[in-house]
Amino acid sequence: MADVRAWRAAQAGSVGLVPTMGYLHAGHVSLVDQARRDNDRVAVSLFVNPTQFGPAEDLSRYPRDLERDRTLLERAGCDLLFVPTVEDMYPHGPGASVDPGDVAQPLEGERRPGHFRGVATVVLKLLNIVQPTRAYFGQKDAQQLGVIRAIVRGLDVPVEIVGCPTVREPDGLALSSRNSYLDPDDRRAAPVVHRALVAARALWEQGERRADALREAMRRVLAEEPRARVDYVSVADPLTFRELDVLAGPALLSMAVFVGRARLIDNLVLS
Ligand code: PAJ
Repeated sequence: MADVRAWRAAQAGSVGLVPTMGYLHAGHVSLVDQARRDNDRVAVSLFVNPTQFGPAEDLSRYPRDLERDRTLLERAGCDLLFVPTVEDMYPHGPGASVDPGDVAQPLEGERRPGHFRGVATVVLKLLNIVQPTRAYFGQKDAQQLGVIRAIVRGLDVPVEIVGCPTVREPDGLALSSRNSYLDPDDRRAAPVVHRALVAARALWEQGERRADALREAMRRVLAEEPRARVDYVSVADPLTFRELDVLAGPALLSMAVFVGRARLIDNLVLS
């Protein structure tokens, strides 16, 4: 921790921070690439944050491979890799935490109580430790990005938040560390999530503006895949994450779907 602060203090120019939980893939690397383009130096944090996992969630089996991550980041041109331990981050237990406010209530917030408090707290801690000029987050986790923007705005954190596009496999599946939970049959089934989003977008492009019709279109596609079990499908306001009745402006199509042992989330913005 002290060495990270010392490194930061020695940087005259701009610093980009990419917070991660490791088991890195091309989505993470795209954030590092963007940070590289925007800043003089790039720092990556790798910390599987226990406070954002629910009691029945996958903390203990979350995939890890620090040596592979290290090699990947060296190749990507990362200048500082920060890998704190749980004791480094929470020496006195969970301690103080950040209330992320209204944007954290619906969708993922409803299904994963306490999740966004954990995310908001750890991200604020990382921002305070590294003090980057800019910090990079993926649109893949659209509500997480909204929560982080909300705490930075709400608490006047002196950092620029940069949202980056979702990186996908050729068949549409959004890259995720949790895709490693998919067995080969699940992996073949998983692109149904993206297909469902695309089907709803196609309807919207044809002029459909009733949110229920778009939700129905997503559920229809998902129902064709026996391995997919819907947690939620949503057509929401992209700033508040509240469900819409009629689309008068931009909208966020999003969903969480269980496929095998994995809970996949994905989204598309209509604008
Ligand atoms: P993690 O799931 O490791 O993701 C780290 C960052 O990579 C997040 O900003 C996430 O949105 C982004 N990301 C993941 N998959 C992506 C993809 N396919 N395309 C583009 N970006 C992608 O999100 C977390 O960790 C944690 O909650 C964290 C913010 C680090 C706080 O603990």
